[in-house]
Amino acid sequence: MQNKNTSRLPGFYKRPLAERAALTAEWAQLSPEQQTVLLGINSLSAAQADLMIENAVGVYPLPLGIATNFLINGRDYLIPMVIEEPSVVAAVSNAARLARAGGGFTTRSDEPIMIGQIQVLDVPDMEAAANAVLANKAALLEQANATGGSIVRHGGGARDIQVRVLAETPAGPMLVVHLLYDTRDAMGANAINTAVEHLAPAVEEITGGRVNLRILSNLSDQRKARAECVIPAAELATDTLDGAAVVRAIVEASAFAEADPYRATTHNKGIMNGIDAVVIATGNDWRAVEAGAHAYAARNGSYTSLTRWRQNSDGNLHGEIELPLAVGIVGGATRVHPAAQVALQILGVTSARELAEVMAAVGLAQNLAAIRALATDGIQRGHMRMHARQLAVAAGASGALVGRVVEQMIRENNIRLERARALVETLQET
Ligand code: MEV
Repeated sequence: MQNKNTSRLPGFYKRPLAERAALTAEWAQLSPEQQTVLLGINSLSAAQADLMIENAVGVYPLPLGIATNFLINGRDYLIPMVIEEPSVVAAVSNAARLARAGGGFTTRSDEPIMIGQIQVLDVPDMEAAANAVLANKAALLEQANATGGSIVRHGGGARDIQVRVLAETPAGPMLVVHLLYDTRDAMGANAINTAVEHLAPAVEEITGGRVNLRILSNLSDQRKARAECVIPAAELATDTLDGAAVVRAIVEASAFAEADPYRATTHNKGIMNGIDAVVIATGNDWRAVEAGAHAYAARNGSYTSLTRWRQNSDGNLHGEIELPLAVGIVGGATRVHPAAQVALQILGVTSARELAEVMAAVGLAQNLAAIRALATDGIQRGHMRMHARQLAVAAGASGALVGRVVEQMIRENNIRLERARALVETLQET
C-alpha cells in the first residue's frame, strides 16, 4: 500500500525513543501488538527460537533504528535497520536527505532468478553430455517445476538450464549444470535446493556421469538490484569547502576504491553496514547477501568497489550501485520473527524485488555518507560523539546526565572511560 506520508522527519533523532516509536507506529499503521514488538516486548521468544535452530538456549537482541528521508522512485520510505554500530543510522539518514534534494533514488532490478548448481563427475564425453543436457532442457525444466509448490503457483519456477565445463580442477574435469529458477517473493534457497536435488538422477542419466553436489549458488548474479542518485553540488558544501571541491574529493575517493582492493574492501564494508542492517531487520540471510556482494565485487578477477561516483555534466555528483541481492518477503525468518514482520510493514514493500531495490538505495546512501565524511572532516569527529555517549552510559550516567558528560568530554577533548566516570561523579552532584 502506498504510504502518503513523507519520510522527511526533521528532528526525529532528537525525540525520546518512545516518541520515535509512536511516530513510526503512526506512519506505518502498526497495531498495538506490533508496537510492543518494536519495543522488544513480545518479540522473538525463546520458545520460537527453539523451533528455529538447534541447541537454542535463548535470544540475542540488537538495536532497531529507523532511517528517515528516503525517497525512492518518488515514494517515501522509513527504513528499519538492525545494527550494533553507532553513527550508521544517522549517517544514512543524512545522506538520504542529500539525495532527496536531487530527486531521491531511482532503482531497478532483475527478475528474482536464483541459480542452482549440479556438479557432474566421471562424464565419459563432456561435449556430448553438455549438448544432451541442453537438448533435454524442456523436460528438465518441467521436472524441476514439479517440485515448485507455492512458488510455481505464484508464477515462479524453472526458467532455464545452462551448462559449464570445468576442464581442469584438482578432482579432474567436471560438468556443472545450472538451473535458473524464478523464486518470486521468496529468497528461495529451499525451492532451488529441492529442485536441483530432484533433477540430479535425470542429469546422471542424460550425461552418463555421477552427480556430487546439488546446491544453490550465492553468487546470485541473475538477481541484481541497482540504484542511482544525483546530489546537487551545493548540498555538499561544508564550512570550509565549496560544493565543487567536495564533489571532486568524493570522485577521488570513488576512484581509489575502484582501483585498490585494500580500499575497496573497506568501502564495500561501509555499503554493507547499511544493506546488512535492513537484511537483518527483515529476517533475511545476511551471510548469503554478503557472500554474493563480495563475489560480485571480484567478478572481473580483481576485487573492486560496488559503487561509482562521478561528476555529471551539470557539475553535480552522480552515484550508482549494482549488486546481487537475494532477499525475500515470504518464508524463512521473515515469517517467523515477529520483528521482521513489523520491519516489513514499516517498509511497506510488496515484493522481493522492491525490497532488494530499497536495500540497493540504502547501500548507495550509506556509501555516500562514509566517503563524504572521509573526504571532508574525517569520520572520527562524528564517531567520537557516539563513542562519548557510550562511555558516559558505561560510566553510569542516565537521562540528561548523559548529554552533560558527553559535552564536557568533547569540550575537554578527553574522551575516555576514566574521565566519564569522574564527570558522572562531579556532575551528578550539581
Ligand atoms: C565503518 O564501519 C565504515 C567505513 O570505514 C566505510 C568506509 O571507509 O568507506 C567508514
